[in-house]
Amino acid sequence: MTETLAETSAYPTAYPSTYPMARGTCPFDPPPELDRRMHEQPITRVKLWDGSTPWLLTRYDDVRAMLVDPRVSSNTDLENFPHPSAGSAARRQRAKSFINMDDPDHAAQRRLLTSDFMVKKVEALRPRIQEIVDGLIDDMLAGPKLTDLVQAFALPLPSLVICELLGVPYADRDFFHRMSKKVIAWDTTAAEALAATDELLAYLGGLVERKNAEPTDDVLSRLAVEQLRTGGMTLEQIASMGQLLLVAGHETTANMIALGTVALIEHPEQLAIVRGTDDPKLIANTVEELLRYLNIVHSGRRRVALEDFEIGGQLIRKGEGIIGATDIANRDETAFPDPDALDVHRKARHHVAFGYGVHQCLGQPLARVELQVVYSTLYRRVPTLALAVPLEELNFKHDMLVYGVHELPVTW
Ligand code: HEM
Repeated sequence: MTETLAETSAYPTAYPSTYPMARGTCPFDPPPELDRRMHEQPITRVKLWDGSTPWLLTRYDDVRAMLVDPRVSSNTDLENFPHPSAGSAARRQRAKSFINMDDPDHAAQRRLLTSDFMVKKVEALRPRIQEIVDGLIDDMLAGPKLTDLVQAFALPLPSLVICELLGVPYADRDFFHRMSKKVIAWDTTAAEALAATDELLAYLGGLVERKNAEPTDDVLSRLAVEQLRTGGMTLEQIASMGQLLLVAGHETTANMIALGTVALIEHPEQLAIVRGTDDPKLIANTVEELLRYLNIVHSGRRRVALEDFEIGGQLIRKGEGIIGATDIANRDETAFPDPDALDVHRKARHHVAFGYGVHQCLGQPLARVELQVVYSTLYRRVPTLALAVPLEELNFKHDMLVYGVHELPVTW
């Protein structure tokens, strides 16, 4: 194996090692080994849970070039697709949505949703999002002065917003939070992932059928009326799409709220700037910088080569798996000077925390508005917000495809 690598690598050969890699002492920084590779061996192989050895790209330019290259595929059915875990590989046999498809199929499905997530539409939700944020903070301040910010605030906000948008009853949140957790845990077995996926699909399928009978003003009703009734999409396809939106729509933003708060509390001079400003541009900047700095989707963008091609001086062969490590790419000093510093004044909007290319996050306008409202409100209304335990005692999500904290005990 090492000999093969020596033959094909343009860089000094490294032994394939396991991926994901362990983080170091700073919980906000990508694994030190990723940093070493970006500087010394930017394109190397890594060994995954199933023994496969896809290419790992670490530099900002290489990651972006790969993600816009039509010779790479997101099709999870392809042999050698570098699935992050056994559970993830199994799930794709059941729930395939446009995130796992290539154009033109990907574009055809994504297009059905672009109007729901366009900036203008999402901006119209800002007052409602502000109302939810204020209500959650009121409830929190009325309760004991020690609470878990994840359960009291970070998880309810994006869950409520995506429920209202899709037309999913918020009363069912315990169920879909539990299922989502199974779906995004690294160590979920194939059987557990299939069971969770089937339960979610059955739940969403039932909901879409009810919407079809009695449509309301939401995305699932619209899909039922416009797609199910016309035969444009099957019930299973709409349920899979609904699952992608429901899981992606709350898990990610919730982690950005909680982990972003930890990062700001640990950088008090940055927190003081955020708390002290009423400039929406600086708040928008803060959101972009925290997205870059934390890059919570730390499992890498995963693809398969459809043809032989060269990237960053490395030949990638048809059928080989590729992982674009956006977490370390967002710390590449060629794109972000002094990359390990959290600086809310930095112009960071060219980060790759939402991915890049045709699969770039569909929900990013919504995530941005939610985070802008949170970061401009929470620390002003709770100016003494502090961790209730030392940083080292927080339970970070090393075990999840999306990084964050499992609980966030805070006081004020
Ligand atoms: C801070 C919050 C968020 C982060 C960091 C994030 C991150 C990402 C990333 C990295 C991708 C790229 C996947 C790839 O290249 O394979 C993606 C795709 C996607 N995200 Fe998000 N996301 C967030 C919020 C949301 C929200 C609120 C929604 C709303 C439903 C959403 C829906 C989607 C969808 C549907 C895709 C698939 C796009 C496609 O394949 O064309 N995301 N997201």
